[in-house]
Amino acid sequence: MTPKHTRRNFLLASSATVIGASAGVGARGQRFKVNLVEAEQRLDPPSSPVCISSGNGLRAVERAHARILAGDDTALAVVNGVGIVEADPKDMSVGYGGLPNENGVVQLDASVMHGPTHKAGSVGAIEDIMHPAAVALKVLQTTDHVMIVGRGAYEFARVHGFKKEDLLTDKARQAWARWKQNRSNRDDWLNRDEMDWSSDGTRVGLGDQNNEPVPFTYGTIHCAAVNPKGDVSACTTTSGLSYKIPGRVGDSPIIGAGMYVDNEIGAAGATGRGEAVVQSCGAFAVTQAMAAGMEPTQACLHVLKKIVSNSTKQRRLMRENGKPSFNVIMYALRKDGVHGSAAMFPNATYTVADGQGARSLKCAVLFE
Ligand code: GLY
Repeated sequence: MTPKHTRRNFLLASSATVIGASAGVGARGQRFKVNLVEAEQRLDPPSSPVCISSGNGLRAVERAHARILAGDDTALAVVNGVGIVEADPKDMSVGYGGLPNENGVVQLDASVMHGPTHKAGSVGAIEDIMHPAAVALKVLQTTDHVMIVGRGAYEFARVHGFKKEDLLTDKARQAWARWKQNRSNRDDWLNRDEMDWSSDGTRVGLGDQNNEPVPFTYGTIHCAAVNPKGDVSACTTTSGLSYKIPGRVGDSPIIGAGMYVDNEIGAAGATGRGEAVVQSCGAFAVTQAMAAGMEPTQACLHVLKKIVSNSTKQRRLMRENGKPSFNVIMYALRKDGVHGSAAMFPNATYTVADGQGARSLKCAVLFE
C-alpha cells in the first residue's frame, strides 16, 4: 500500500541549553546536548477501513471491519470484534476460558482508546465478567475516570448490566491443577538469588543466566482500526499472565503500554510479556516512533530493541545466548492505513482486514 501523505521532518540536532541549578551552590549553568525531532505529518486516511489484530484476531478484524462498514464508530467496532475471542473458551489467553491466576481465579484486563476524543477507559483484574473490553468502553463513555480495577470494576460492570459468569472452564481448571502440582520454583515469586534488588535497595544477586524461558503464557488480543474519516481506535484485552499472583495487572489495561492511540498518527498495541512492555511504555513509544517518521514495522522493531535493552538489565531475563527469555509482539496501524508488526522471535503472525478481505500476515522479526 502506498502511503498518501506529505511529511516534513525537521531534525534539529541542536545543542539546546538547559540551565540547571545546584541547590546550595547557587545557579550553575549546565549544558546538555538535546536532539529535538519535530515531525509534522499530514496523513490522508485510507479509502476503506483498515483493521489489524494479533494472530488470534482473524475473526475480530473481520467483525470490526464489517461493523465500520455498517456505520459503527471505530471504538465500538474494535470492542465488538475482540468480543468474539473473549467469548471463545478455546482461546485460553482471553476472556472466558482464559488461564486463571495462582488461586484458580480468572482475572481479566482490558483497555480501549478512542482517537477523535482522545478518551481512554480500562479495567484491571476484573472477575466474573466475560467482556472486559466492553466494560472498559463503558468506563470511557460514562465516567470521568480512565481505569477501574478489581471489585470496583466488577461492581461497575454489574451496574451497567453485565452478567456475572463463571469464567473458569474445565480445561483451564485442569491446566491450573497441573501447574499447581508441578510448579516447583516456576512461579512469579522471585527467590532471593533471582532478585536483582532487595527491598532495602541493596543489590543481592544477578540471578541464574541458565534459566529456561519461563513456561507461562502472556496471550492477549489487540485490535486497532481506522476508518475513511481518519478516526483511529484500539483496544487490548487479556486474561494476562497465567498463574499470576492475584491482583497482578499487565500491560493490556495500561494506556500507553499495551495500547495507545493518537488520532493524528495512529494506534499501537502489544502482546507478550506485559512487565517488559509496561517498563518501556511500549505502545506509546511505537506511536512516537511513527510520529518521528518511522514506518509502522520499523517503529515496532525500534521499540522491541529498546524493550530488550531495558528488560535484560535484569539478568534473569537474558538467556546465555544474549537473547531475552521472553517474547513481545508490537502492532502498529498508521492513520493512513499502513500497518506493521514485529516480534522478538520467528513465526509470529498478525491479522488484517481491509478492502482486500481478512488475512494473516507474518510479523517482522528482531532475532532471526
Ligand atoms: N500482555 C499481557 C500480559 O502480560 O498480561
